Amino acid sequence: MSDRITQLRTDFDRELPAVTTDADATALRDRWVGRKSGLLTAEMKTLGKLSPEERKTAGAQLNELKGYVESAIESLQAGFAAKREAEQLVSERIDVTLPGRRLSGGHLHPITLLRQKIEDIFVSMGYEIEDGPEIETHFYNFDALNIPENHPARSPQDTFYITDQLALRSQTSTMQIHAMQKRRPPLRVAAPGRVFRRDTPDATHNPMFYQVEGLLVDRGITLGDLKGTVEEFVRRLFGPETRTRFRPSYFPFVEPGAEIDYTCFKCNGAGCRVCKGSGWIEMGGSGMVHPNVLRGVGIDPEEFTGFAFGLGLDRLCALMYGLDDIRLLYENDVRFLEQFR
Ligand code: PHE
Repeated sequence: MSDRITQLRTDFDRELPAVTTDADATALRDRWVGRKSGLLTAEMKTLGKLSPEERKTAGAQLNELKGYVESAIESLQAGFAAKREAEQLVSERIDVTLPGRRLSGGHLHPITLLRQKIEDIFVSMGYEIEDGPEIETHFYNFDALNIPENHPARSPQDTFYITDQLALRSQTSTMQIHAMQKRRPPLRVAAPGRVFRRDTPDATHNPMFYQVEGLLVDRGITLGDLKGTVEEFVRRLFGPETRTRFRPSYFPFVEPGAEIDYTCFKCNGAGCRVCKGSGWIEMGGSGMVHPNVLRGVGIDPEEFTGFAFGLGLDRLCALMYGLDDIRLLYENDVRFLEQFR
């Protein structure tokens, strides 16, 4: 029996190196010490046939071998587990010093950015920013602005009518009336907002666009104040070298009225692609508030005078960013908008 047990140990030692996986280890354990068909388990059962003397030694030897087999397999399994853990530590390693992934947040529309910049300039010059209705009665759209009964601006060809009494405002000049009704002079108000005209959309036109209106009313205000204010305004917007020029023009709600041009922000007046070689860019209309308009809101034109000017945001925005089609500003294609992040 003793020889047999020595032989069994040799056999086991020979099988041990072939074990390379957990499954191998389990199979080896079943084969040697499995409860049902383990080699050593079977050996134990033969002990009963031996004499008491022999049984004692053989039993001890068998138990010793069993312990040896079990602990050899256990230490193999422990080795596998340690190796698995080491591999996992490598494969799941996280470099905590790497920069995090940036969340892509929203951002403002280019028109909004420009509007805020312009609002800041107005505020820095003592103006209050005011918001008003986009749908107006004839009173605000036309009558109060001294627009005569037969004026083409009243025609449904030019204005979007909602009913025969209500229409979408076609200019922010309606805000002049709201501002003067709300407060007494001296007053300074700037009103940015959307306006609507029945234009066919193309590269330079859209039926909805943005204007900003500036209005100042006080005692002794002259055309010189208008010119000085507009010049200071464009200098704050485009830089201190910017110059302006006024071309006489007609708007029913001002007298005298003028179109304002400023020297091109790109070439500073030399002539370039942005200003189409002229050196000048059109800014918008302006003028001294018409006495009829002042009277219409109960302000005495003998005591107070004022000026107003309006500028278009969209065309300015398109020029500043070199857009060849103004409609890009309204389509809200994120591939376009992302550039203004
Ligand atoms: N509202 C005029 C326009 O849309 C511009 C303007 C504003 C003219 C203020 C005079 C005074 O063309």
